[in-house]
Parts: sequence; structure tokens; C-alpha cells
Amino acid sequence: MTRTKYKRVILKLSGEALMGDKSYGIDPHVIHLIAGELKEIASSGVQIAVVIGGGNIFRGIDASAKGIERTSADYMGMLATVLNALAIQNALERLGVATRVQTAIEMKELAEPYIRRKAVRHLEKGRIVIFAGGTGNPFFTTDTAAALRAMEIGAQVILKATKVDGVYSSDPMKDSAAKKFSEIKYIDVLKRGLHVMDSTAISLCMDNNLPIVVFSLKKKGNIKKIIEGKKIGTLIRG
Ligand code: GTP
Repeated sequence: MTRTKYKRVILKLSGEALMGDKSYGIDPHVIHLIAGELKEIASSGVQIAVVIGGGNIFRGIDASAKGIERTSADYMGMLATVLNALAIQNALERLGVATRVQTAIEMKELAEPYIRRKAVRHLEKGRIVIFAGGTGNPFFTTDTAAALRAMEIGAQVILKATKVDGVYSSDPMKDSAAKKFSEIKYIDVLKRGLHVMDSTAISLCMDNNLPIVVFSLKKKGNIKKIIEGKKIGTLIRG
């Protein structure tokens, strides 16, 4: 096994990360690339669990703004994450990587239900575990699911993949004076209202001292570099 900074990680992928340049759905080429990176990391002995969003298919919050009742909209969003999880599982297994999907809402015919001890055993056996269905509860985001699952399985870090390469003082897409942080404290993310993860997820990580690395998925090899201990993106810590 290669020496790495982290041995067990949670990778949080937004649904949008799977869209590539499309405006909706899943780009098979993009998931193939992600799967390739994960295969390489897993083969070095690092245990990887993936929490996947669903915004490329259905966004609960947007739908609720358009008149669908919030709880229903959130459940619809959870189902979208299951579609993405199956797509990632398929891409990984095509590359010969052993995986298990576990869902927060039971749907036994298509995946295992979430069982913490089973998830940990899968990781120990070198399987990539994909957590689908968020926390299984409306009003919670998949970022919060990532924080919760990370705590439960004893992950050492959350790798939060985004479109930008870290946390900025303001939106770098809109403000050319936006400054990137190499490190920032949880409390400052909350105080400044930086929209990197929702406040529930940040608070959960803060209370349990779980570091988060925010980075861009667009640059190939970033996940591996972070796991090896290189300073990529922004580290959020206490
Ligand atoms: P160990 O034998 O404990 O290492 O794990 P395993 O996952 O290989 O064993 P198990 O016999 O539990 O699972 C065999 C296969 O069935 C795996 O592909 C699992 O993902 C799948 N599986 C297990 N439980 C369920 C379930 O509740 N629903 C579905 N759809 N598949 C399941």
C-alpha cells in the first residue's frame, strides 16, 4: 500500500459534476473519467466512499419554489441521487472495481439498504461504497449526508468536489476581486455566509472536527494529490 495522508475518505460529488458540459443528466464520458481516477486511488489501498447529489436530474429546493410541496420535492431529489449512484457504480464496475451501493431509503431490489457496519466491512475489503438517497430525510442536503456518513464510518476527511478550485471570499464567477483561501475555519465559513456547503453540514463537521477539502474536479488527478497530502483547493478546519 502506498503511503498516503488519508486512508479512508468520503468524496462528495454534486449531481452537476456528472453533467459535464450538458445542462441536464449524466455525461457517460465524465463518469468514466471520475471512475478511472477512483480506480487508481482505490488500487493504492485508500478506502473510498462516495456521496452523490442529484441536482443534475432534480433539485428539490427549486421544485419546491415552483410549487411542489417541499417534502415531496426532497424525496424526488433523493431518488435522483439513486440514479446517479447506479450510473457511477456501473462506470466503476466496467473498469473492474468492486463497488456496493447503499441507499438511505430501502429499495432492496436494486441496492443494499444503508447499514453502517456493512459499509465499513465493504471498505475494509477494498470496495468503493456509494451512498445514495441523502440522509433519507427531507430538509437535509447531500452535503449533510456526506458529513453524517463521514462521521459514521470514521472517514478522516470530506473531499468536496466543486466547479471552482476552492473557497473564495466572494463568488469568483461574479467578482474578479474574490480571494481564494488556502485554509479557513469552519466558524468563518459560517460567519461570512460562504456558500460552499450548507450550514448544517459545516456545523456537523465543526462539532466533530472533521476536515473538509474543497477542490475542483475539473483538474484531473486532484483527488489523488489531496489524498497524498498535497495542498490543493481550500482546507476547512477548526
Ligand atoms: P460480504 O460477503 O460480507 O463481504 O459482502 P457481500 O456484499 O459480498 O455479501 P452479500 O452476500 O451481502 O452480497 C452479495 C451481493 O448482493 C452484493 O453484490 C451486494 O451488493 C448484493 N446485496 C446484498 N444485500 C442486498 C440487498 O439488500 N439488496 C440488493 N439489491 N442487493 C444486495
